[in-house]
Amino acid sequence: MLEKYDVIVVGAGAAGMMSAIEAGKRGRKVLLVDHSKKIGEKIRISGGGRCNFTNTHTHPSKFISSNPKFVISALNQYTQNDFINLVKKHNIKFHEKKLGQLFCDESAQQIIDMLILECKKANVILKIDTKITNIDKQNNKYFLTVGLEKYLSESLIIATGGLSIPKIGATKFGYDIAKKFNLKIVETLPALVPLTFSEKILAICKELTGLSVEAAVSFKKILFQEGMLFTHRGLSGPSILQISSYWKLGQGIKINLSPKLDVSKFLNDRKSSKPKEDINFIISEILPKRLAKIICIENNVNGNICELSNKLLNHLSNSINAWSINPIGSEGYRTAEVTLGGIDTDEISSKTMMSKKHHGLFFIGEVVDVTGHLGGYNFQWAWSSGYVAGHHA
Ligand code: FDA
Repeated sequence: MLEKYDVIVVGAGAAGMMSAIEAGKRGRKVLLVDHSKKIGEKIRISGGGRCNFTNTHTHPSKFISSNPKFVISALNQYTQNDFINLVKKHNIKFHEKKLGQLFCDESAQQIIDMLILECKKANVILKIDTKITNIDKQNNKYFLTVGLEKYLSESLIIATGGLSIPKIGATKFGYDIAKKFNLKIVETLPALVPLTFSEKILAICKELTGLSVEAAVSFKKILFQEGMLFTHRGLSGPSILQISSYWKLGQGIKINLSPKLDVSKFLNDRKSSKPKEDINFIISEILPKRLAKIICIENNVNGNICELSNKLLNHLSNSINAWSINPIGSEGYRTAEVTLGGIDTDEISSKTMMSKKHHGLFFIGEVVDVTGHLGGYNFQWAWSSGYVAGHHA
């Protein structure tokens, strides 16, 4: 049996649904397939269940890609305001949490319901629990095999996402298709992911589990200043997740645990103004007590500040303002929010998201070598790239 479509979209996540809606609105006969029984699962679990669906500060500088200019066209064709207007049209209430991050007031499910409703309005045919076993190209048409059935289409949009959180449906399908069609892939790595450490640092993290501090975390010239969380596995929190997208195995990161204060100057002033004060007490003024205690132990300092040499105080302030540590890895795809790398942007037109080598074959969303910073940028990439493909498929 052969079913004929104008457009087949594989992957009913954020990007896939958006592309299906836009292609459907143009009057194209669209089939949207997903291997999972439930669609939009990443949207559902995103933003702590409230979906950080975009960011008002969306700008190309918020994206990582081998070609940093690649995102410009799609982000201009479908902006954060376009998505915000869609959300408003559906009467979904939202708020800015911080740094331009927009979240639903109630539930991420509202975004999924909105996209499903838009799919229905655009006459998109949805097939869930559908396993594609083969994709072939003949005479510029794409043939998909699903069990005993065959689907044929002029355009094929691959929107199968990245590798993170395999237990809710992530697969390497998109990368396999790219390989099959001889398209280059930029090495994939877990990103926006907690970092792990060897014994000594891990012991500190375990001791401080649950403690959150404002920290400036840097790797080379890249710096993020947001919350940082100690966990029983290592370090997490926004500043660590952000830097994980840049950090390279074998290299160190620097953490400023008191970014608003020059601790060296503060301690010198204190030594002259209150020489009899206890160092532990002084450090507790600038850091949470548990952290202050561990830092004093690690630096072998105790007693009155006047008894401590300037060299020792310098060492202490460095370990607060410039704590240098070497992660040994990350928690991997099990907890990563996104996948770094993907289909090489050299292979795709930034204006249409279509393969330069294969007419009618499109790649969108996270499967492409575009990774947003934390804060709603990854969904904005999914909406923008999905919109663009939907307009050209
Ligand atoms: P997405 O992963 O959404 O969809 C891919 C779809 O393809 C899935 O439905 C999957 O089942 C399907 N699929 C996979 N293999 C298939 C196959 N072989 N056959 C058929 N279908 C297949 N971003 C953000 O901007 N704000 C946020 O708040 C968050 N929060 C967040 C939390 C957590 C825990 C995670 C893991 C991720 C986030 N993200 C995020 C990232 C965001 O979820 C992600 O970047 C987008 O969902 C990517 O959209 P895509 O449509 O490309 O893939």
